[in-house]
Amino acid sequence: MADEKTDRRWFLGFFTNLLMVVIGLLVAIPAVGYFLAPLRRKLGRTGDGFYDVGPLSEIPVGEWLLLSLEMVHEDGWRQTRVRHSVWVRRRGQGDQDITVLSSICPHLGCPINWIVDQSQFFCPCHGGIFDTEGRHTGGPPPRAMDPLEYEVRAGRLWVRYQDFKIGVAQSVPVNI
Ligand code: FES
Repeated sequence: MADEKTDRRWFLGFFTNLLMVVIGLLVAIPAVGYFLAPLRRKLGRTGDGFYDVGPLSEIPVGEWLLLSLEMVHEDGWRQTRVRHSVWVRRRGQGDQDITVLSSICPHLGCPINWIVDQSQFFCPCHGGIFDTEGRHTGGPPPRAMDPLEYEVRAGRLWVRYQDFKIGVAQSVPVNI
């Protein structure tokens, strides 16, 4: 009889402890996951800086087209989304026949427009002018429009987005 009572007490104690461990794990695992999430995202990020800007087939040959991409910046648990625009032109049907230019003016960073009927780029802030290849032809900008790297992956255009120093004669990439 005494043995039976001892066994029952031992079993109840064991079961209670087991239950507490299970409840503890149920609470602890998501909490630890939440706090480690930013670190995991950082370690697991294999991004090469290229962003999908759309199917190549939707980019007309011979015309400059303004395409946008969305970058996600992560700072701890906070995410901010930033849209950037790039100028894209296909010269022909080939994957290598593409030019991608930053739409940010190298003078003071205003957005550059393509003026179709003048066949030139124009920055409205201070009158910067660039020819159809993005070369500087007038106004205060100290250099040509900045070219961006691209790749064609499975029929889609991917652009390696990059900011550049403004106000200097050389195209100097800036970490983003
Ligand atoms: S910012 Fe473009 S000309 Fe000044």
